[in-house]
Amino acid sequence: MSSDHSNEGKPFFLRDPWVYQPEVKPAARADAKLGFDTRALHAGFHPLRNVEQFRAFVPPIVQSMTYPYPSFDKFPDYIYGRSKTPTVSVLEDRLASLEGGESAVTAGSGSQALFNLVFTIARPGDNVVTTLNTFGEGYKQAATIFPERCGVEFRFVKEFTDPKAWDRAIDKQTRLVWVETPSNPVLLVTDIAAVAEVAHSRGVPLLVDNTTATAALQKPMDLGADIILLSLTKFLAGNASVLGGAVVGPEELVEDIRWNTTEFVGAILQPFEAWLMLQYLETLSLRMERHSANAQAVAGFLASHPKVKQVNYPGLSSHPQAGLARRQMKGGGGLLSFVVPGGMAGAATMMNSLELVVHAVTFGTSRTICMHPRTITHEHMTQEERHEAGIDDGLIRLSVGLENAADVIADLDQALARL
Ligand SMILES: Cc1ncc(COP(=O)(O)O)c(C=O)c1O
Repeated sequence: MSSDHSNEGKPFFLRDPWVYQPEVKPAARADAKLGFDTRALHAGFHPLRNVEQFRAFVPPIVQSMTYPYPSFDKFPDYIYGRSKTPTVSVLEDRLASLEGGESAVTAGSGSQALFNLVFTIARPGDNVVTTLNTFGEGYKQAATIFPERCGVEFRFVKEFTDPKAWDRAIDKQTRLVWVETPSNPVLLVTDIAAVAEVAHSRGVPLLVDNTTATAALQKPMDLGADIILLSLTKFLAGNASVLGGAVVGPEELVEDIRWNTTEFVGAILQPFEAWLMLQYLETLSLRMERHSANAQAVAGFLASHPKVKQVNYPGLSSHPQAGLARRQMKGGGGLLSFVVPGGMAGAATMMNSLELVVHAVTFGTSRTICMHPRTITHEHMTQEERHEAGIDDGLIRLSVGLENAADVIADLDQALARL
């Protein structure tokens, strides 16, 4: 099967598909000269700049899904809630600004955002090059949904630290190279600049999932990434009250996604969730600093504990890509994982013994959370794939929250004593 990206014979209502052109650089944003924290507060909405539209200090929730036409032949800026709504637009502009991208389009979840992106840029016969080091639903889309339902193949690079291995996996039908760094749940770090160089030399855009680090700690676009995938559900929201996702990238691609998947298929972010996200983003860099400091302390404790077999945390000098992590990230982030002895039974004993740390499926929350990837998020991988991805039966993922680190450490210490 060969891929046809031309528009010939297309129904009149489909947009021209976005085609990556390495030589076309995204337009610089007008707010690029402002600092990160200033943009986290002001991008997309400013009480004075938006006075005519809102006359409000806080960006209002516009809880309306349809918008009146000024007259029969005049279109309003917002028409219907499936394409865009005012509060969501403020959030999209803020996310684009924080990542340093031209534009953003939100989705009902991070998984939906990945789906919308791949569905938009790949056709049957095309492929996407990635690794097994991705979040669980990403793996499931890559291993089953896209190949079986859409005819899009995903190629999993094994030696992801070797740029030549990425190069070997790319061919004429490759539409996207997708990197998750640090990866969930094993916290492997990929060299964004090196993979960007390879992808660009083959005329392919680079997608970086920046969910685990967030733009407060890592700026993939400064290192050559073209597109950013975000789950808003995690550190960006920071408290497990909102599910959401976004793709940040060139405006043409973003509008292609908005029109062909968001508008026609409809998995959107609602205004209230967008409004909550806007409140949470105001404190992103403060929270990421504290998450990183706490996780660094917890990782240090676990690394020196005799009952812990292995600790995966980019901020530890024992991490296999510690130097790269230091160059690429402003802090280790709030996510780590560690291996206890005794496989599944050991993990169960440890997790059942925790009194402060909560066993739940998410990360990036103000409260510390633990989760067992083998049984919960990566259960669909084969044993061989899990082995390759470093998902041991005794692996526990820990999202270190904003509590006093000493209290989290004391809880882990008493639980480890039960092993
Ligand atoms: C790195 C990463 N990206 C994207 C997602 C998808 O996010 P959501 O849960 O919002 O669908 C996840 C979820 O775990 C994730 O860990």
